[in-house]
Amino acid sequence: MVTLTIDGNQVEVPEGTTVLEAAEKLGIKVPRLCHHPSLKPYGGCRLCMVEVEGARILQPSCTLPVSKNMIVRTDTPKVREARKFVLSMLFSERNHFCMYCQATDGDCELQCAAYEQGLTHWPLTPNYSPYALDASHKQIFIDNNRCILCRRCVRVCGDMVGNFTLGFEERGANSFLVADYGLPLGESSCISCGACVQICPTGALMDRGSAYQGRETDLNSSASVCTECSIGCQRYVRTRDNRLVRIDGVWESEPGEGLLCEKGRYTPLEPKSERISAPEILQNGNHAQATWDEALAEAAKHLKNAADGAVLFASAKLPIETLAGLKAAFSGGLRGEHLYLTDDDETALASVRLAEELHGPFEAKLNALKNVDVALLLGCDLERDQQVAGFFLKRQVLDNSRIITISGLDKPLIKRAALKIQQKKGSSFDLVTGLVSGWHAILHEGDKLAEENLAHLEEKTGIKPGNIREAAAMLKEAQNPVVVIGNEFVSLEHYDALVRLVLFCKQNEFPVMIIKRHANSLAAAQLGYKPAAGSQPAKAAFVALGDEEPSAALLEQCAQIPFLVVSASHRSALTDKANVLLASAAWSEEGGNFLSTEGRLQTRVAALDAPEGVRSTKAVADALAAALGVSGKLDWMSLLKQQPSPVELED
Ligand code: SF4
Ligand code: SF4
Ligand code: SF4
Ligand code: FES
Repeated sequence: MVTLTIDGNQVEVPEGTTVLEAAEKLGIKVPRLCHHPSLKPYGGCRLCMVEVEGARILQPSCTLPVSKNMIVRTDTPKVREARKFVLSMLFSERNHFCMYCQATDGDCELQCAAYEQGLTHWPLTPNYSPYALDASHKQIFIDNNRCILCRRCVRVCGDMVGNFTLGFEERGANSFLVADYGLPLGESSCISCGACVQICPTGALMDRGSAYQGRETDLNSSASVCTECSIGCQRYVRTRDNRLVRIDGVWESEPGEGLLCEKGRYTPLEPKSERISAPEILQNGNHAQATWDEALAEAAKHLKNAADGAVLFASAKLPIETLAGLKAAFSGGLRGEHLYLTDDDETALASVRLAEELHGPFEAKLNALKNVDVALLLGCDLERDQQVAGFFLKRQVLDNSRIITISGLDKPLIKRAALKIQQKKGSSFDLVTGLVSGWHAILHEGDKLAEENLAHLEEKTGIKPGNIREAAAMLKEAQNPVVVIGNEFVSLEHYDALVRLVLFCKQNEFPVMIIKRHANSLAAAQLGYKPAAGSQPAKAAFVALGDEEPSAALLEQCAQIPFLVVSASHRSALTDKANVLLASAAWSEEGGNFLSTEGRLQTRVAALDAPEGVRSTKAVADALAAALGVSGKLDWMSLLKQQPSPVELED
């Protein structure tokens, strides 16, 4: 620990702490612009200058490490004068006519800093040439005229997202922000995660969707969790007058560290199809509006008549409370327990079964991806499906971390992978079996056995022995390896192959994780829900869709069922076919609990009021139970805790 004095106050901090951080510990706020706690210190703007006793010139506190008995002053005339000069320079170098900027009045850190430092006028004559706006991107526009060259955007895009899209052209005060060495942002490699917009301290990067809808102080904010995939990134949902305005990441939160992907930040704001605002019953081929009592009575009558020919399909994006309520309604009110999901993903159920066999958790946490040196991705497209987990890997590529991908898909799973191995389509399970024996031979046995195994593997999967040898050598040398298994390599039909693979990883001490698909896939599997593909032929079905779009496979399955009750928020090809339609809440209108792929139990809060006549999915489940004459109550927390889980559960 190091002891130093700042503004007359002694403070003790760990070695390596910066002066700015030590000041913060004392509650002293040093003004800053290029600094952001989620980024590595950069020292570009010079606003955070402080006086250090014994130093000839002012020092940037954001990059200066503390030293023993250091004496620092953060608020002297010299320091104040230097800050005013830095701000005057910034205001003269670009168009900072704040009254014309969307970020004015509290959302712009430059403007706030100017007020805090008492800047009353521009002592330096503005001196700049205008830059063209880049409005080529569907969600983001770049206005280099408001840019202060702090590089937060470039650093977040490279160091945190691992996308390396942004950079600067030209030098010094004439530098300007570009994408991919000069492409319009909309035509660049940008993946629309929006991290650069969120971190920009001025109005230089703006969100097109929320611009001119109000400052941050005008908006209501709900601290919530993204339920668009199984990673469970934390986010703020910003609303105004009961409508969605913007979604931001929560810096310094786990697991996403403030990052979101396009699915988490922008997709939920896109317009959806027509809203279902009241229950409906199909009469003579047309939907007619009905009361809740009429619709529920009609639904219960047909489900009861179907008895054990009635099945339930529920979206794994629904809250645990709803999934538990539906389970209680179905298992209590009808003979037989036919609980299915609306999708075919088998990862969650397979890993829950494995947990039962292995008597408890066997999977690593997502944090293992953050300091990995060799990651083996088996049929797991983290760049498409669980993007923020993919960012953890992509950003380490420049730090010599190496990624190996094996997949039957035509496109590489991670573009910058060190080794991309493509197998014949449909050979995943031969591959798993072959890989385990091939690697085992390479890692632990003689070369002759390895050769035989690899020749056999090539015949089945088309993978060259050299590739497997290379991958095995990388894993053998790794200090922090991780094996990530995705749905391409998980099938209940070939469950034994998965067991062999996981046991092989355990024997070799490779941390392993199986990435589940949806926000509540793991909880649903623990509650006994099975993938849709395994469902029995049914006489009647209750489909709890929430705001999920029905897949083509679900539509096909439901087409065979004579009586359909659908609970949904928006119209779709499936709701068109419903005999009874129940109007349920969308994600933004309903709170509830979600269990992420790594066992993190998190709460989503309702950010909007649902339209009148619409019920939450949980209320629909309770009403169905009541109509079936049973209690919809189920102690889901105890059920989750009783069931062996593939990951340690944590609140
Ligand atoms: S949106 Fe994301 S990927 Fe695109 S430039 Fe910004 S940080 Fe980079
Ligand atoms: S665009 Fe914003 S974040 Fe990027 S350098 Fe300019 S002011 Fe900083
Ligand atoms: S990775 Fe998943 S949880 Fe995170 S923001 Fe994207 S969709 Fe949401
Ligand atoms: S905040 Fe320290 S140099 Fe910018």
